[in-house]
Amino acid sequence: MRNPFIYGETVFGKNFCNRKEEIRRLKNDILSCQKIFLISSRRMGKTSLIKTAIDQISAKEIISISMDLEEFSSYREFLNTYLSLLVKKSTPENKILGFLRQVLSGLRINFKIDEIGKPVISLDYNQPISAELDSKIFNLPEIIASKQNKKLVVVFDEFQEILKLNRKNIEGKLRAHIQHHRNVAYVFAGSKRHLLNEMINSQDKPFYRIGPVMYLEKINEDIFLKFAKDKFETSGIKISDEALQKVIKLAENIPYYTQLLLHELWDSKIDKGIISEKDVQSVLSQVIHLYSQNFHLEWSRMILSKRQLLKAISLYGGKQILSGDYLEKNNMGLPSSVRRTLLSLVEDGYLDKENGEYFFTDILFREWIKRTII
Ligand SMILES: Nc1ncnc2c1ncn2[C@@H]1O[C@H](COP(=O)(O)OP(=O)(O)OP(=O)(O)O)[C@@H](O)[C@H]1O
Ligand SMILES: [Mg+2]
Repeated sequence: MRNPFIYGETVFGKNFCNRKEEIRRLKNDILSCQKIFLISSRRMGKTSLIKTAIDQISAKEIISISMDLEEFSSYREFLNTYLSLLVKKSTPENKILGFLRQVLSGLRINFKIDEIGKPVISLDYNQPISAELDSKIFNLPEIIASKQNKKLVVVFDEFQEILKLNRKNIEGKLRAHIQHHRNVAYVFAGSKRHLLNEMINSQDKPFYRIGPVMYLEKINEDIFLKFAKDKFETSGIKISDEALQKVIKLAENIPYYTQLLLHELWDSKIDKGIISEKDVQSVLSQVIHLYSQNFHLEWSRMILSKRQLLKAISLYGGKQILSGDYLEKNNMGLPSSVRRTLLSLVEDGYLDKENGEYFFTDILFREWIKRTII
């Protein structure tokens, strides 16, 4: 029997739990061709939610293009893939050549069919990256949508990575074009909250107030609990509510870690039939053990002030860190330098902040620190 708990990949269909309201909102915004920012800390379920929402819209109504900006190391590579996806997703193979000639005339674009019969489209190496090229590619989604009398949705996942592509002001150029698009929805998703918030909240930034912003939160605990319990039951395994609650608490209800622990629990108990709270602890220890070498290495590379702060948060949580009490209890320095360390840990991706509270983005690292360092 296949393990019903999936982590580390996009989940959809029966592996996707609830989020009915988020799906409804996202679908509505996509269908009304908005430019949507979808923000959450890591591993909260953004990519899965976007896929689920788009899957629920009929392909007759919409063409969808998804790109993960973490995959690109240069602006040319990004443009190349964007162009290729747009053309291939919207145009039957035998019409591609005509499409390129008609819509993208003046650009040097290579088109061929590879050994397995798939079309390959790429910018010619001699095609300079010019304002004309930007313009033609960035306007392509609206042209396609109008020509085909369909809507189009473009998903830029991990959108903050656009800031790293080695060219200045790509955001500005993108915004200048897409603001005129009426038949295209854009979803800008990402997990580096401070960068994305700055993009949309600073008046001098191109994406300032471009459209609705969705902050993806955790899945309701009771609903996740029921989702998990049903999956165990279908596999003929009994699990107590206490054990499930413990998993969700340890994982801080972050979907990825909840699924990871449930996956391991399911694996360890498939022959025995019943799971208790004690099993949760032992599975957690096994998982931490698997990662402990990496954690040791990371820890050894970290400067002392960062270690001290992570240790404190693993023990006492991440509320009111800059208060006199907290600083004193943990022997920490001046609030100004602790604040700098906090920001730096957020930038490095170790911590994130929600409702004024800092938390570990990796709950396994948190548990490892608790068990090993103290
Ligand atoms: N609605 C859901 N129901 C069940 N599990 C979920 C759900 N959403 C996310 N998960 C779990 O969380 C994991 C991460 O989901 P996903 O990749 O969609 O998150 P993300 O926010 O895009 O992550 P990242 O920040 O790494 O890009 C999935 O592999 C799955 O285990
Ligand atoms: Mg993702």
